[in-house]
Amino acid sequence: MSGLPRRGRGDGQPPARHFDVSPADTIQEMIAAAWRVQALRTFVTYGCAQQFAHYGKMTAGELAARVTAVAAALEPILAALEPYGVVLRDDASGEYLLGPAGEYLLPEHPHSMLPAVEWDAVPVVEQAMEDLPATTAHGRSAVVEAAGGLYGYLELRPEHRELFDRTMAGRTSRIAPVVAQREFGDQIVDLGGGVGVLLAHILRAHPQVRGHLVERAEVAERAQKYLAAEQGIEGRWQVHGGDIFNPAHIPLGAPDYLAASILHNLTDDRAHQLLTAIGRVMAPASRLWLVDMVVPPGGEPHPGRDLGLRMLGLFGSAERRLDAYNALLTRAGLRVAERIHPLPWGLSLIVCVRDE
Ligand SMILES: C[S@@+](CC[C@H](N)C(=O)[O-])C[C@H]1O[C@@H](n2cnc3c(N)ncnc32)[C@H](O)[C@@H]1O
Repeated sequence: MSGLPRRGRGDGQPPARHFDVSPADTIQEMIAAAWRVQALRTFVTYGCAQQFAHYGKMTAGELAARVTAVAAALEPILAALEPYGVVLRDDASGEYLLGPAGEYLLPEHPHSMLPAVEWDAVPVVEQAMEDLPATTAHGRSAVVEAAGGLYGYLELRPEHRELFDRTMAGRTSRIAPVVAQREFGDQIVDLGGGVGVLLAHILRAHPQVRGHLVERAEVAERAQKYLAAEQGIEGRWQVHGGDIFNPAHIPLGAPDYLAASILHNLTDDRAHQLLTAIGRVMAPASRLWLVDMVVPPGGEPHPGRDLGLRMLGLFGSAERRLDAYNALLTRAGLRVAERIHPLPWGLSLIVCVRDE
């Protein structure tokens, strides 16, 4: 590592600047963000992270020979990714090596971002983003609607559904250990819990807790398999194939209900329907744990501002500010019970109770 510049941040912070940024440069940077994702996809398409992990330092020419590409074409790809710490360059030898962000592109990394890069390139996802100007006129993406809504689309495409679940699992595995540190009652119901990554963490950390997971039928099947393979939670969980909007499908009167990355998929009207359904099954002392992003005030940069665009494209929904959560909760007879807890990846934990 010696002799290598430490320019790649790889910690989610913008790269250090070596030039003045005027407002015009800012617009140019925003345009170029769409180019950068293509550099990332190219890097992933050629399995460059795996090559660096296997062979160590190498020049663009050596990498090109290994992945059957053109050296002069790989050079600008690597140069674009260098400030982000995907690769680091030894300027003395001209060799590159995998940087801290690049490590997250390895499939075996415990929090691999590889599924997220691949998910981003799924045609309906890409089209939904390209469609934002039209979606802004109608409030919903015509492309996604025509495909049957995102989850309807995924129901018919098991390979994309599996990729989506791996993308969510990678993200959720970063917040799960933090959420699992909290105290829970003797039963928790995870609504739309995916394959069960968060539920498994909670059950492992709390041997006295029993868990329920309510998911769409096609996911419930895979959640069964995932949870059955997890150690230390045997006999303490149940998967329910069902609809989280239907109170009859949700176990009644549990001390804790969890909805992680669910509300941001929903427009205000649908979010109201969901919160009303959950409020109906909650006991007076039950808690509802929301895991979602809270967009901060004051123009402060936050991942929720970008993810809000993805939510608009795919669901016609948004990431919300605190006042929007408060309005939704009040309308459904619920309220925030304690201070908002920050979680990794810009997520927050919002603990809610019935307002009575
Ligand atoms: C964004 S994912 C979040 C997954 C998981 N909670 C996590 O944080 O990793 C939303 C999940 O809600 C599920 N879902 C959406 N609509 C649903 C419905 N009507 N009934 C049951 N599950 C639903 C989807 O299948 C998907 O797995």
